[in-house]
This record gives sequence, structure tokens and C-alpha cells, in this order.
Amino acid sequence: MAISGERLKRAAIIGAGTMGLGVAECFALNGLDVVLVDETAEASQRALGSLEERVRGHVDAGLLPSTAIKAAQSVRAAADIAAAVASADLVFEAAPERIEIKSAVLAECDARAPARAIIATNTSSLPIDELAAFVERKDRFFGMHWFNPPEWTPAVELIPSAHTDAAIVERALEFLLAIGKRPAKVASAPGFVANRIQFALFREALACVEEGLATPQEVDEVVRSSFGFRLPFYGPFQIADMAGLDVYASIMDVLSAGLGAGWEAPQLLRDIAADGRIGTKALAGFYSYSEAERVALLLERDKRYAALARLLGEFGARELGQSAGSD
Ligand SMILES: NC(=O)c1ccc[n+]([C@@H]2O[C@H](COP(=O)([O-])OP(=O)(O)OC[C@H]3O[C@@H](n4cnc5c(N)ncnc54)[C@H](O)[C@@H]3O)[C@@H](O)[C@H]2O)c1
Repeated sequence: MAISGERLKRAAIIGAGTMGLGVAECFALNGLDVVLVDETAEASQRALGSLEERVRGHVDAGLLPSTAIKAAQSVRAAADIAAAVASADLVFEAAPERIEIKSAVLAECDARAPARAIIATNTSSLPIDELAAFVERKDRFFGMHWFNPPEWTPAVELIPSAHTDAAIVERALEFLLAIGKRPAKVASAPGFVANRIQFALFREALACVEEGLATPQEVDEVVRSSFGFRLPFYGPFQIADMAGLDVYASIMDVLSAGLGAGWEAPQLLRDIAADGRIGTKALAGFYSYSEAERVALLLERDKRYAALARLLGEFGARELGQSAGSD
């Protein structure tokens, strides 16, 4: 499709805070022509200084080559949104998560950006269909949800509205892959996918502390050293397959008996387990495996965990608990 061949070369970042600055850094380092704008012309100018400081920090820490500073210095500040988006291919909105701000910012971007521009919002939680109401070019508008710190975190959720042209989402996907990100298309629902799962974890972590099961420090230790240890390499379905879906169904029965409504195993798990597809040990679960693949997968898993244990050992002297100032 012709549209996917067009490169996104010029980006306008609207809102140069925690996320906007990180995305500006990522775009600039990947050779895009970047203009940023904040709430006022003065704030936009100050943001250039913050961006350079941020990149110098990464260079000093040995995370980026010194050429990154030149890339950061190529970013320009605009006096207002109209100037920022005037020649943009991609408008990236990272203004505060308040509907009254997003509505005005998105409407202004839409009115001022060239017709060819695509407009992406970094909203963490606002429904994309609701935000689409503030732009005329609904087919060229979608969610592009990055994660903090955006220059280092690989994931980006791409969230179309009911009106988004599928070719535009494809184009954004290709663009993100080309700059080294790991994008995934997800539907618009509260929290999309990542925050729905992340906040389920946080809700239960809070409940464990509130109910006196453990302190925040103990919860952090358990999470990061148990299932959190696996997550850099595997998602929940891969992990469940390796553990055994029959085991997971039984555990969920205990949880629902003890913790009540909301803890019942979803039908999806019941159906797959009833079908005998109970994970790697049955060569079928959410994924399917040959015997050779099963053996290779488990060995590869062990290699990855051993490598991660070594990496964590290197960071051992800088335990988070010590620097977090908890008493
Ligand atoms: N912080 C995170 O971890 C995170 C992660 C993913 C997504 N997000 C989302 O990204 C968006 C931005 O979040 P953030 O954490 O960068 O917020 P932030 O408060 O750090 O930055 C927002 C910036 O927008 C500026 N701003 C305010 N009004 C503006 C206007 N009218 N025009 C232009 N700029 C304006 C502010 O001055 C500020 O610099 C939000 O939608 C948020 O939900 C945040």
C-alpha cells in the first residue's frame, strides 16, 4: 500500500514533559526533524535545555555516543502549536492527562497541521473514540501509548479509534519498528492492555499491604524476584504454558474460594484446560509445541534466567531498596 512506504520525517511534539522530552530524544536520535512546543513559548525554550541535559546525562553514563548531543541540539522549540505542527508528518500529543487540555490541544493541532499529517495521542487512559471527537481527520488520528522512560522502554501500544484508517496504523507500526520499538496494536478499553494488567498488579500489591500480609518492601522483593524475574523474557501466556494450565486452573479455584467474586478463572482458561491443552507438558496450551521445541524452549528459558541472574548480580551493590530511602 502506497501510504506505508511514505516515511515520517518531521515530528511535532506537543507537551515537553516527562514523556514528550523522552520521545523527542528518541525521535531526534533516529534522525527525525523534531520541533517541540510546551504551554508557553518560554516553557518550550526551557524544554530544549532540559532535553540537552537529559541526553548529556545518557552520554555521560555511557548509554549513548557523544554524537547524541548533536542530535539533541537539532531539536527546535516553537512559539505555539501552529508553528510546531506547520510542516509535521507526525504530530505527537503528550499534554497533561486532562480532557479539557487534550481537547483544546488536539483541535488546534488538527486545524493547523498539514492535511497529510497523522496525529497520535499518548494518553494513558482516555478513550480514543472520545478524543477522536476533537479532530476532523478522524481517519488519521489514533493512540500511540509510550511507556516511561520512553527512550528506553521498547513497548508502544497503538490504539485505533472506530474511525482510524487501518493503513495509518500500519504505517505507524512500521515507523516504530524502524526506530527500534516493539509496537502492538490493541483495542481502546479502560487502561488498554498494559495499564489494565499493570494496575491489576498494583491494586493487589496495595491490598497485600493493607491487609497486613507484607510491607511494601517485602511485596517489592517478592514480586521482582518471583514472577517479575520472568517477565523480561516471557508474557503471561508463555509463563502459564510452562507452569501448566491445569495447575493454574486449580490455583484460581483456591483464590476464588478465598478472595471471592472477580477471582474465578475466566472461561477461556476452563475451556483450554478441559480440552487437555494444559501447556508445554501436553505440547499444547496457548501455544503449540513439538517435543523438540518443548525441550529447546525449556533449556532456552533456563539460559535466559541464568543470564538475568548474573546481570542482577552485577547490580547487586545498587539495590533499589537501599537508594529508595525506605527506613
Ligand atoms: N508519565 C508517564 O509515566 C506516562 C506514561 C505513558 C503515557 N503518559 C501520558 O503522556 C501524557 C503526558 O504525560 P507526562 O507524564 O509527560 O506529563 P507532564 O506533566 O510531565 O508533561 C506534560 C507537559 O505538557 C505541558 N502542557 C500543559 N498544557 C499544555 C498545552 N496547552 N500545550 C502544550 N503543552 C502543554 C506541560 O507544561 C508539561 O510540560 C499524558 O497523557 C500521560 O497520561 C504518561
